[in-house]
Amino acid sequence: MEGKQPVADSSDQFLVVTNCCFCFDLRTGSLIIVYFTLITSVLNILGFLCDVIMPDDDGMAKEDKLDIFNLTVTIVVIIICIMNIATCVICLLGIYQDIPEYVYIYLIYSLVYLVVIILLLLASVITGRASIGFYFWDIISILGPEVDSDTSLNDYLRNHLNLRGTKYMCKEGGCGACVVAVTVNDPHRRTFSVNSCLVSITSCQDWEITTIEGIGNRARGYHPVQRTLAEYNGTQCGYCSPGFVMSMYSLLEANHYDLTQYEIENSFGSNTCRCTGSRPILDAFKSFAKDAPKPPPKIEDIEDLKICPGKGDCKGCGKDKNWCMVSQSDVDPPRIKKINLKDGHVWYRVNEVADIFTVLDAEGYESYMLVNGNTGRGAVPVLVHPRVLIDIQPIKELKGYYLDQNLVVGAGITLTDLMELFKDVSKTHEEFQYLYKLYEHLDLVAHIPVRNIGTVAGNLMTKYRLHAFSSDIFLLLETIGAVLVIGEYSNIKIK
Ligand SMILES: Cc1cc2nc3c(=O)[nH]c(=O)nc-3n(C[C@H](O)[C@H](O)[C@H](O)COP(=O)(O)OP(=O)(O)OC[C@H]3O[C@@H](n4cnc5c(N)ncnc54)[C@H](O)[C@@H]3O)c2cc1C
Ligand code: FES
Ligand code: FES
Repeated sequence: MEGKQPVADSSDQFLVVTNCCFCFDLRTGSLIIVYFTLITSVLNILGFLCDVIMPDDDGMAKEDKLDIFNLTVTIVVIIICIMNIATCVICLLGIYQDIPEYVYIYLIYSLVYLVVIILLLLASVITGRASIGFYFWDIISILGPEVDSDTSLNDYLRNHLNLRGTKYMCKEGGCGACVVAVTVNDPHRRTFSVNSCLVSITSCQDWEITTIEGIGNRARGYHPVQRTLAEYNGTQCGYCSPGFVMSMYSLLEANHYDLTQYEIENSFGSNTCRCTGSRPILDAFKSFAKDAPKPPPKIEDIEDLKICPGKGDCKGCGKDKNWCMVSQSDVDPPRIKKINLKDGHVWYRVNEVADIFTVLDAEGYESYMLVNGNTGRGAVPVLVHPRVLIDIQPIKELKGYYLDQNLVVGAGITLTDLMELFKDVSKTHEEFQYLYKLYEHLDLVAHIPVRNIGTVAGNLMTKYRLHAFSSDIFLLLETIGAVLVIGEYSNIKIK
C-alpha cells in the first residue's frame, strides 16, 4: 500500500487513510454508522407514516407497497456496513504499524451490525412478504409463494406440516376421509367441517383448523368421539376413521352438542367406510344424541377438552394454552391481498365486490377465476387453473340477505346458511312457507362439509360452465321463478 501515509489526529485515537478508495477518517466512519443508523430509523418512521397515510382504496396491499421501500433501505444499510468493514480490514492489512484498539471495535461493531441487518432482511423476507395465516390450535402457520395454485389444505397438512392423520382418497369431496374442523369468527364464533381435499390452502386465511391430531391422542388422552367409535367397533382398517371423527366432532361443536339421533344419522352423507358397513359408526355417534336410549358418554370430558378459559373473547390464555385461538378482531387484513404463487399464478384475496374489478382491471380479464368454497371442482374438475385466482370468500356483501316483499339473498351465501335461512323464513312468514320444501331438498344436496363452504353462485356458475351438470340449486331457483342479479363493472344489471 505504497504512498498511503497514516496520520494520527490530535487525540491520537483516530486515523486518516489517504490514497485509498475507502479513505475514511475512522472517526468519520463511526459517525457514518451513527448517521446511517439514524437515517435508517428515520426511513423506518417514514415507512410507518406511509403505512398509516397510505390510501386503502387503490387496490394494493400496504405490505406490497412497503416491500420495495424496505428492501431498498435494507440494501443501502448493508452496503454501508460492508464499506465500514472494508475500511477496517484495509487498516488491519498493514497500513498502520500500531493499530489502535478502536479499529477492532469498529470491525466488530460493523460485523455485528451487518449480521443483524441480514437477519432482519431474512426475517422480513420470511414474514413480511404477502402471505396468509391460519391456526392449528394456538400455532400460527404462515404461507405464501411456496404453494401452488392447486395446493389443497389436505396437501398442505400432509406434505408441509407432516400431519398425516388426515387422510384422502377421492379428492373430489366424495369419501370424507379428508374432513377437518374449521372455526371462524365472522363475527360469531362457529365451527364447521370441510373437505380438506377441496379447500385451496390459500383460502384458509384466519381459519382455526383442527385436525384429528388436535382433538386427542394416546399421550393426551382420546376425545370422547374417538373413544366411543372404538368402543362401538366403529373402526377396522381405520382409514376412514379420522374423517368420521372430525365430521362428528364438527357436528357436535356446530350444534352445541344438542342433536337428536335422527339429525346425527342424517348428517353422514359426507363419509364412507368400506370395512364396517357404517352401522357401528352411526350407532357410536348416535349415542351422543340427546334422545339416545342410554346416557351419552361423559360430555363433561368434551368440555374439559375445550380448554380455552377465556372462551370467545380470550386475549391472554390460561395456563393450558392448547386451545386458545387469536380472535379475528386481532387481525386487520388489507383490503386486497396478493400472493405470487410458486407456479406463476397469482392469488388475490378481496374483501369487497369493487375489489374484484380493481384486480381484474390491473390483471386483465383474459385468464381469471373467482374462488368461493372451491368445491365446484369436486363436481366438475378444474383441469387447468387460470392465471389469476380471486378468493371472494371474505366478501360480506355477497353473504347477506334482506326481506321485504321479496327475499333477496347474496350469491355468496353457503348452502348451509341458505338452508337455515329458508327454514327460519318459512316458519316466520306465511307467504314463504314453501321455502321449507326447498330446505328439505337442499338437505339432499351434496353433504354437510360441501354445503358448509359451497355457495349458491358457485353452484350456478358450475352449471353455467358445464350445462350437463345437474344442479339442484338451478332447478330450485327455476321452479320458484327466482331472479338472478349479475354484477357488472360500474353498474348492476338485472338478467
Ligand atoms: C361431493 C359433491 C357433491 C355434490 N352434490 C351436489 C348435488 O347433489 N346437487 C347440486 O346441485 N350440487 C352438488 N354439488 C355441487 C356443489 O353444490 C357446488 O360444488 C358448490 O355449490 C359450489 O360452490 P363453491 O362456492 O364451492 O364454488 P367454487 O368451487 O368456488 O366455484 C365454482 C365456479 O363458480 C364460480 N363462482 C363462484 N362464486 C362466484 C360468484 N360469486 N360470481 C361468479 N362466479 C362465481 C367460480 O369462478 C367457479 O368457476 C356437489 C359437489 C360436491 C363436491
Ligand atoms: S379425499 Fe375424498 S372427500 Fe376428500
Ligand atoms: S374402517 Fe376401513 S374404511 Fe372405514
